[in-house]
Amino acid sequence: MERYGQRLLSPEWGAEGARLATMAAVCDPETISLLERLGLDASWRCLEVGAGGGSVAAWLAERVAHVTATDIDTRYLDGLNAPNLAILRHDVTSDPLPEQSFDLVHARFVLEHLRERENVLDRMVSWLAPGGLLVVEAFARLPAVSTPHPGFRDIMDALIKTLNLTIGTDTDWPWTFPAPLHERGLTGIGAAANIPITGGANASAQCWTLTLTQMRPRILELGLASADSLDRALDLLGDLAFFDFATATIACWGYRS
Ligand SMILES: C[S@@+](CC[C@H](N)C(=O)[O-])C[C@H]1O[C@@H](n2cnc3c(N)ncnc32)[C@H](O)[C@@H]1O
Repeated sequence: MERYGQRLLSPEWGAEGARLATMAAVCDPETISLLERLGLDASWRCLEVGAGGGSVAAWLAERVAHVTATDIDTRYLDGLNAPNLAILRHDVTSDPLPEQSFDLVHARFVLEHLRERENVLDRMVSWLAPGGLLVVEAFARLPAVSTPHPGFRDIMDALIKTLNLTIGTDTDWPWTFPAPLHERGLTGIGAAANIPITGGANASAQCWTLTLTQMRPRILELGLASADSLDRALDLLGDLAFFDFATATIACWGYRS
C-alpha cells in the first residue's frame, strides 16, 4: 500500500522544500503561541516527529536543553545547525526510541497521514517521561456548509479524497480530538482549532497551490476533478482578490501522569 512521500507529497519533488516552508509560514505562529501558552522549561528534552523543514525544531532548540528532530526523509533538515539539535532519520510507525525519555513530544501534520495513527500515538506516549507533554496537530476537512467559491471547495474535497484513497490520510480524525488522549490516560488535556484564511496569494494560498500542483496527476488519474476545474482553482489561489477557508488545523495536548 502506498505511503506518504512514496509518490504523493514526495520529498523528491522539486518544490517540496518550498511547500514545507510555506506550511511553516502559515502554521508556525499558531504552533509557537500554543507551545508558549503551555509553557516550555529550559531543561526539557524535546522530540519533534516528522519535522519536515525543521522550523519548529529550530525554534525549540533556541529554548530548551535538547531537541531530537525526526523524519522519514531528513533532506530538508540537513541545513539545521544547533549544538543541542539531533537530526534522526526515523519512521515513527516502526523505528525505536527510548521509552520515557522526552519532556515534550510534538507532531504537526503527520499522524493524520499515517494509517497506523492510533499505534503511533501509543508509541509517542511511551516516549514521554512522567509528567511529559504530548502535542498533536493535524489538518482537518472543513465541514463548512457555505462558501463563496463552491468550485474551490470541490477541489479541496477532491484533494482530501485523493490523499485518503492513496495513502490513507484521515482528515476527519482530528475532529475526534481530544478523545484519543483521554483514551491513553493523559491528564490536563485540551484542544483548539484554528482556521487560517487562504487568499490574497498569502503563504496559505502558496502552500495549497504547491500541494495541488504536486497532487494534480493523481487527482486526474482517480477522476476526482477535471483539468479545467483544477486550473480554475489554481487561478483563484493566485488571485489577490480571492479569500476562502480551506482546512482547519486542530491541536490537542495532554500530560503523562
Ligand atoms: C505535511 S509534512 C509536515 C512537516 C512539519 N511537521 C510541519 O508541520 O511543517 C509531513 C512530514 O512527515 C514526514 N513523515 C511522513 N511519514 C513519516 C513517518 N512514517 N515517520 C516519520 N516522518 C514521516 C514527512 O516526510 C514530512 O516531512
